[in-house]
Amino acid sequence: MSEVSEQQQAIAAAAKEIISTNPYGIMDFRGQEIIILPKVFPADCTTPFLSERMSEIARDIVKQNGSCKALEMGAGSGAAILTVAKEKGVEAHASDINPMSSLCVQANAMFWGVDCQVYNGSVFEAIPEQKFDLIFWNIPFIPHDPGGVEAVEFRAGFDPGYKFQRNFLETVPRYLSSEGRLFLGADREMCDLDELFGLIENCGFSHSIYKENPESWRGFDFTYLIIELKQK
Ligand SMILES: C[S@@+](CC[C@H](N)C(=O)[O-])C[C@H]1O[C@@H](n2cnc3c(N)ncnc32)[C@H](O)[C@@H]1O
Repeated sequence: MSEVSEQQQAIAAAAKEIISTNPYGIMDFRGQEIIILPKVFPADCTTPFLSERMSEIARDIVKQNGSCKALEMGAGSGAAILTVAKEKGVEAHASDINPMSSLCVQANAMFWGVDCQVYNGSVFEAIPEQKFDLIFWNIPFIPHDPGGVEAVEFRAGFDPGYKFQRNFLETVPRYLSSEGRLFLGADREMCDLDELFGLIENCGFSHSIYKENPESWRGFDFTYLIIELKQK
């Protein structure tokens, strides 16, 4: 892991504070009410953009194949995958390491009246062997450990050493169909992109920036990236 700059330390400290005080309740998501349970990542940041882009991809896959089996890793509230699930021809699946998130996805699926198979566990550990046409993960951005981020709600922002990311990238080929598409949501300022791109390369993928979007969230300006990965 490269040396942690003062700016990265400041970002990690601020993210720790933000996650500790995350709001919960009924919120607005692109004009629709969504349930955010305590300790769940609120869908008010990069999630709307991600949900639109992944819906477009799912639509394309349905056009091509007649159906699309989609998995969101680390689904949080479920806002993104449940948006994708509304598309005709999509079969939606979601997993999260945080039990409160898995519950939240189930609650929102019922609230929105859409179907989604929900799992709880670290990366693929709870997901039976099967193939997906689309897999995406809005990743925990920060690979530094500011201390005090062991509780499961901090997995929303912190993946010290990108340990879980490595585990995900090493396992994901088993779950991807031959033409399956794979995306990571990341960020220019909060992620260690050198480290992340190195890891992607080492795990046998090439990458390209599929879309990027300027975002502003709780006093932070940053650039959100949707990265497409292809097996080499
Ligand atoms: C940045 S949040 C994104 C949440 C949601 N996808 C969204 O866009 O609103 C990252 C999510 O990944 C989950 N996560 C972190 N580490 C994980 C792991 N090892 N396995 C599964 N999910 C994990 C977190 O609990 C959190 O819900």
